[in-house]
Amino acid sequence: MVYGYMIAFMTVKVAEKNDFGALAAISLASMSEPWSEADFVAASENPFAIVLKAEDENGPAGYAVGYFAADEAELPSIAVKASCRGRGIGSRLLSELSDAVREKGASKLFLEVRESNEAALALYQKNGFITAGVRKRFYRDPDEDAFVMMRLL
Ligand SMILES: CC(C)(COP(=O)(O)OP(=O)(O)OC[C@H]1O[C@@H](n2cnc3c(N)ncnc32)[C@H](O)[C@@H]1OP(=O)(O)O)[C@@H](O)C(=O)NCCC(=O)NCCS
Repeated sequence: MVYGYMIAFMTVKVAEKNDFGALAAISLASMSEPWSEADFVAASENPFAIVLKAEDENGPAGYAVGYFAADEAELPSIAVKASCRGRGIGSRLLSELSDAVREKGASKLFLEVRESNEAALALYQKNGFITAGVRKRFYRDPDEDAFVMMRLL
């Protein structure tokens, strides 16, 4: 039988050196404070950091970075390629990153998000994050407050 749709292929794995150029391009196209290739390399060499990539049949589709120390973790950057959004990739990255930092001993995951970033706020709320505070004028270009969000792992 021929079906009228394809089941999309997608995996999430630890990113490797040859992924960082593509991940930096996704970050540049997605973020006001993008991560450079050198930032990804530095995180991959940091024993207290983890870089995950999502990949579909066309190559890297998104990434999430986590830092962990003692029982807390921080998510400094997450992005999904524009053409791949709305397919659950952001949720999957968040869930796999949460599992990975929990395995390293973290019991709380923190992040900052622009207060106008409705897609990211909805993603985080849907995945169990609550607002823990506000950082005034945390962002530049344009100036904006950040919500600090936290999830118990
Ligand atoms: C935020 C981002 C990572 C979400 O990735 P994604 O793969 O599209 O997210 P998902 O498909 O897993 O969506 C999960 C939920 O988030 C919410 N969501 C995602 N995109 C949304 C949008 N444009 N508007 C409103 N809600 C949205 C929905 O609740 C969605 O659940 P649903 O599909 O069941 O309704 C992506 O939009 C992105 O890369 N944005 C630019 C970079 C960025 O802002 N990063 C976060 C910085 S703090």
